[in-house]
Amino acid sequence: MIYKNVSLKNYNTFGLDYKASTLIKVKTEEDAISVLHQSKSLKKPLLILGGGSNILFTADFDGTIIHSGIGGIKIEEKTPEYVIVSAGSGVNWDEFVEWSVSNGNGGIENLSLIPGLTGASPIQNIGAYGIEAKDVIEKVRTVSIDDCSIREFSNGECMFGYRNSIFKQEYKGKFLVTRVFFRLRTSPEYRLNYGSLNAEIGKLGELSLRNVRQAVINIRRSKLPDPQVTGNAGSFFKNPVIASAYADILKEKYPLMPFYPETTGKTKIAAGWLLEQCGWKGKKSGAAAVHENQALVLINTGNASGKEIYDLSEKIKQSVFEKFNIELDREVEIVGPI
Ligand code: FAD
Ligand code: EPU
Repeated sequence: MIYKNVSLKNYNTFGLDYKASTLIKVKTEEDAISVLHQSKSLKKPLLILGGGSNILFTADFDGTIIHSGIGGIKIEEKTPEYVIVSAGSGVNWDEFVEWSVSNGNGGIENLSLIPGLTGASPIQNIGAYGIEAKDVIEKVRTVSIDDCSIREFSNGECMFGYRNSIFKQEYKGKFLVTRVFFRLRTSPEYRLNYGSLNAEIGKLGELSLRNVRQAVINIRRSKLPDPQVTGNAGSFFKNPVIASAYADILKEKYPLMPFYPETTGKTKIAAGWLLEQCGWKGKKSGAAAVHENQALVLINTGNASGKEIYDLSEKIKQSVFEKFNIELDREVEIVGPI
């Protein structure tokens, strides 16, 4: 399906009303291959778009957007301990989590209610409440944008890191994900040590996949704005990972600073806390603003432009650098001029 001069308002969770010259929806892998075969005749640049929940457009997109509508959840293999399940890249992520929980398969319940489509889960290595996609991804099936060949990446080949993978680095924009294969457990192993998760499950009753999912949903709803109501893209910045020696200095000065030890010599610092210390929580800048419950989330209060949101993020970066000497990296991808 090809759409011309199409509004992107429903294709990005900031709700920004920019236009794309062409948007092509592909429904199957064959469709994707055939569209990519014509790529020489497609207007450049090309952008692969999922749910647009980690993207900030700053202008109309004068090129071709390929949007995956590849569906289907399939059980590929079963052993007494595991089930390998594949999901099309166009499957809504949270619907896949719901399917998994309903079928008694464990592994992704902590990733409930993350917006977007399954195809982006390996790109971003999505994560929440102590689990990352890398913990459950078996392999990723893709079509090469250069030569339309099928290529499957094993978990190791994806080079996963914190909100990172080979698809955001060396292979950025080089592969269209068609299906993601997950290794899920037939009898769950719960990970409950993140923040208030355990306490929230306690309120719901017994420990079960269903209650873990519900607890995560309850916590998320209490903290994060619903993009259907208030435009946002979740955490705008990544939590910075800094030298532990410097984190120790900060801990002395700010005993309440949240921190998470990483690999040897490195410590992750809560960016939301840094922003709050710089006075950003709830601050407005034109129609862009910092969320009042979670400073890491930038919001569109109504009719913000992408540039306004971007400019706010620059001011935030600068103030965090001035106060803490820490350089923040954006998690959200900027598409367009800045
Ligand atoms: P998009 O934003 O459309 O795209 C993201 C990137 O993936 C782009 O580079 C795009 O080109 C690429 N891409 C997308 N689909 C494909 C494909 N099929 N093939 C190749 N490349 C592709 N993220 C977390 O990790 N944890 C959270 O807890 C979390 N919470 C959030 C809460 C809210 C309220 C919001 C709005 C966002 C949150 N996010 C979170 C961020 C976001 O939901 C994830 O990054 C999600 O995986 C993005 O999926 P998407 O389909 O919207 O991808
Ligand atoms: N905090 C503040 N002030 C704030 C926000 C947070 O002091 O305004 C403090 C909190 O009190 C807490 C700490 O910072 O001690 C961490 O906050 P929270 O638990 O809300 O998590 P986060 O680090 O801000 C990360 C992910 C989220 C993910 C949650 C839960 C990143 C960049 N963000 O947020 O992912 O849902 O943990 O696991 O890693 C996303 O990627 O878009 C996203 C929402």
